[in-house]
Amino acid sequence: MKLSVIGTGYLGATHAACMAELGFEVVGLDIDPAKVEALSRGELPFHEPGLPELLIKHVASGRLRFTTSYAEVGAWADVHFIGVGTPQRPGESAADMRYVDAAAVSLAEHISRDALIVGKSTVPVGTAERLATLIADTRDAAGLPGAVELAWNPEFLREGFAVKDTLTPDRLVVGVTSAQAEDVLREVYAQALAAGTPWIATDYATAELVKVAANAFLATKISFINAFSEITEQVGGDIGTLADAIGHDPRIGRRFLNAGVGFGGGCLPKDIRALQARVSELGLDRTMRFLAEMDDINLRRRDRVVDLAVQVLSHTLHGAPRRAPNGGAGHTPDPVSVQVLNGARIAILGVTFKPDSDDVRDSPALDVANRLYTAGADVAVYDPKGNANAAARFPRLDYVNTCEAALQGADLVILLTEWDEFKALDPTHVATLMARPTIIDARNVLDPSTWRQAGFTHAALGHRYID
Ligand code: UDX
Repeated sequence: MKLSVIGTGYLGATHAACMAELGFEVVGLDIDPAKVEALSRGELPFHEPGLPELLIKHVASGRLRFTTSYAEVGAWADVHFIGVGTPQRPGESAADMRYVDAAAVSLAEHISRDALIVGKSTVPVGTAERLATLIADTRDAAGLPGAVELAWNPEFLREGFAVKDTLTPDRLVVGVTSAQAEDVLREVYAQALAAGTPWIATDYATAELVKVAANAFLATKISFINAFSEITEQVGGDIGTLADAIGHDPRIGRRFLNAGVGFGGGCLPKDIRALQARVSELGLDRTMRFLAEMDDINLRRRDRVVDLAVQVLSHTLHGAPRRAPNGGAGHTPDPVSVQVLNGARIAILGVTFKPDSDDVRDSPALDVANRLYTAGADVAVYDPKGNANAAARFPRLDYVNTCEAALQGADLVILLTEWDEFKALDPTHVATLMARPTIIDARNVLDPSTWRQAGFTHAALGHRYID
């Protein structure tokens, strides 16, 4: 069976390389010739552990190649996966469907044989049905030979674990309208099925909803624990112990209960907004209203880091008495905050939305760094993989190439992405580099007593600043 994958971003490039690893002949298509050229040379334009090795291996074996030509893939492949992006529309909550629509139409126009098109992109419910009609109409109008069917097969891969999640998924979900389409997909995923991966064959709407429901649930879990952070920050208590304790209940589970600066990335934030927009379109305005609250809780975590920075620095830099927590500095820093932050040297450790990724889309860390800079702080940023992508968005921040360079002379260090490199930092060494040994742990990954023993003023999200 010959496969094509349309779109070679995080999802598409991973899927293409993993399908080649499974033994298929694969062509990846992208409309960006520079991307196609880079991938054809075996160069991955983003960071994803384990993926460069697969790419190089299968470009070399000839099982994987890349093109910009729909005519080429349309004539060649039996199955076409659509893995293009569905970003948030600028200034709106809804998803921008133009790339998925364009891919579906371009495929429909260039296939002149029997084939299966399989949507993998995260889409508003109702999309597959609409595209099935669009594909059929396009092909009828052009009088093209061959039977072309559409299936929907949502993708659940996590960045940083994309290869593992694709090769050994925890479940496979397909939305199909015929037994033939299901059989083709069973053949594609035969190895995972043989290993016992649960297989859920259902209708289009369920398949589409499974993906957004999963992401809405995960976002809710994170915001749930972060809402409790707001309480423990006020009254005391240990947010990590709280999460551990409720997580022991198997009905709740400990995963995705890590309190911190909140969720970001190319999926969770935009998916919960797109879901709200879609249900509003359906006249169900109240149904997903709680997700607006989850979004708010999530964004308030960023306010809280800025507020903590002001509190901590007003004490350590300006000798002011420690202020009790107050409800967050908000998006526009107040004049007092600006006065405190002005000229303060702040080391930012981490700008990606999570470790083991170079992705800064909707990154809480980058947002906080930029807000501190805008309020007048002298911000030095270090991320093991994310500096270049961050600099493309916010070029005025001072990006440095080592952790030490960021820490040098800093009045405050804020850990915003929990890379292993930061978790392994030696507080005694860090203290020798900084002007003032002061740290905010915005991911709750450092042991407070170790840092305090090394002479640090230590603050963390989910913990009362003044004990
Ligand atoms: C997510 C889904 O997990 C995945 O199934 C889907 O296919 C795409 O969206 P991803 O965006 O790669 O994957 O990141 P994920 O690991 O889910 O983390 C999302 C965000 O939540 C990150 O910013 C992370 O730091 C944050 N997070 C996660 C927390 O703040 N606390 C947690 O306990 C877990």
